[in-house]
Amino acid sequence: MLDRLEERREQARAGGGEKRVAAQHKRGKLTARERIELLLDDGSFEEFDMFVQHQCADFGMQDQKIPGDGVVTGWGTVNGRTVFVFSKDFTVFGGSLSEAHARKIMKVQDMALRMRAPIIGLFDAGGARIQEGVAALGGYGEVFKRNVVASGVIPQISVIMGPCAGGDVYSPAMTDFIFMVRDTSYMFVTGPDVVKTVTNETVTAEELGGAKVHTTKSSVADGAYDNDLEALLQVRRLIDFLPANNLDGVPEWPSFDDPSREDPSLDTLVPDNPNMPYDIKELITKVVDEGDFFEIQESYAKNIVTGFARVEGRTVGIVANQPMVLAGVLDSDASRKAARFVRFCDAFSIPIITFEDVPGFLPGTSQEYGGLIKHGAKLLFAYSEATVPLVTVITRKAFGGAYDVMASKHVGGDVNYAWPSAQIAVMGAKGAVEIIFRADLDNPEKIAARTQEYEDRFMSPFVAAEKGYIDEVIMPRSTRRRLARALAMLREKETERPWKKHDNLPL
Ligand code: HXC
Repeated sequence: MLDRLEERREQARAGGGEKRVAAQHKRGKLTARERIELLLDDGSFEEFDMFVQHQCADFGMQDQKIPGDGVVTGWGTVNGRTVFVFSKDFTVFGGSLSEAHARKIMKVQDMALRMRAPIIGLFDAGGARIQEGVAALGGYGEVFKRNVVASGVIPQISVIMGPCAGGDVYSPAMTDFIFMVRDTSYMFVTGPDVVKTVTNETVTAEELGGAKVHTTKSSVADGAYDNDLEALLQVRRLIDFLPANNLDGVPEWPSFDDPSREDPSLDTLVPDNPNMPYDIKELITKVVDEGDFFEIQESYAKNIVTGFARVEGRTVGIVANQPMVLAGVLDSDASRKAARFVRFCDAFSIPIITFEDVPGFLPGTSQEYGGLIKHGAKLLFAYSEATVPLVTVITRKAFGGAYDVMASKHVGGDVNYAWPSAQIAVMGAKGAVEIIFRADLDNPEKIAARTQEYEDRFMSPFVAAEKGYIDEVIMPRSTRRRLARALAMLREKETERPWKKHDNLPL
């Protein structure tokens, strides 16, 4: 009997057989089980449902049963913390989802939710199993529903590690983070062959749904890595930043970085010329613990930077305008990117630090036609509904509506700091004077005097500080200490909001 067990285990571990495993390796991809081994702590994986088989009898499927049915499921630990996992096995019917395969995924989804632990899906699969028809579609519906029920309760992470279509892109699309592997992974609702048939468009898989497309154009994916190993190691790193669920609070890791550490180089980070760019990531890495910053959507809407870091060993979400790209302006893409990030942090009780240097919203027909009002409103909405600690540092420009949006005092900022270089106004001096002194435009001397007057009055943090909209004007070098103190003070923050079923985010 013991031998029989080992025999059956071996059969299941063999997946789709030597030839298909070799093809998988030849494409530079690891197998479903190899991926799990790398993702989880050594020896921590506990597998479920290794012997599950599909029940399909159509199209000769009754003679093609492979134990496990194309997905490896179970749980294990990442740096000692419990996570649930499913890993699609492309060597078995292309990792496609049958009714039985769906039940395996549903089981770990249900367990992850019950145990309030993160779930990680490793995708390498062609969607619904065509031979099963509606049974497979029904299976996906069940998986989708569980994705939504778990959303905002436990972190859900998807890693795209092969060609993925149909339900194998829609389920990831409803999770919190999607990572892809460059050159070997694709995401599309329908593949290049169907595209050719329906639209007569000739397109390669890479052009249609490669990592570059989804991290730079569509924003479907949050990051891309060079190979399976790198992607899995980065998921481990991300898990270390995330709470296990929406009630657990952020994890706390030992930190060896003095929270009072000053950085004199920050005093000269902002150039004298207000139109000169500087790299906001320099500020981020100089103030967070050990300079460790995990960026989300690094290659998309680079005019805003989002990601996770730690202060005093505890996770914080960072949102920062990037003066290096489009002067840090807020456009539709940046607003959507940051809004989604802010909402994730808020759902999982991750405090948010906002670094602000924003000349306003991007004007123009292309932005307006593209719904800038609606997309900008998403970010305004996200900050305004957030109940997590919000700490804001205005480093330079805070102009117009963008001032309000970026976690200003008025929409819920708890502690709002400004550097001495901050400029808080409805708009820059030139534009302002041209509007309010239009009648004097033909008198350059008068205009120059008015511009100077406007600059003296508004191009500083002090008008806002005089009104209490800025809690304190701080020395740039002391930013880390100020942030650490503010976050420590805000740890037990409580906010009362009226009951509602849910809000109506401008989608
Ligand atoms: C059954 C499938 C399959 C599927 C792939 N295979 N997809 N079997 N159902 N959906 C099998 C193939 O028959 C093949 O079996 C093996 O997996 C590898 O597939 P290949 O085509 O040889 O690999 P590749 O050339 O790399 O192409 C991968 C692929 C392509 C891009 C994923 O297979 C593909 O386009 N598949 C169909 C995708 C699709 O339209 N799925 C349905 C979506 S509808 P052998 O025996 O040769 O190894 C859906 C509904 C969800 O998912 C609802 C959404 C809202």
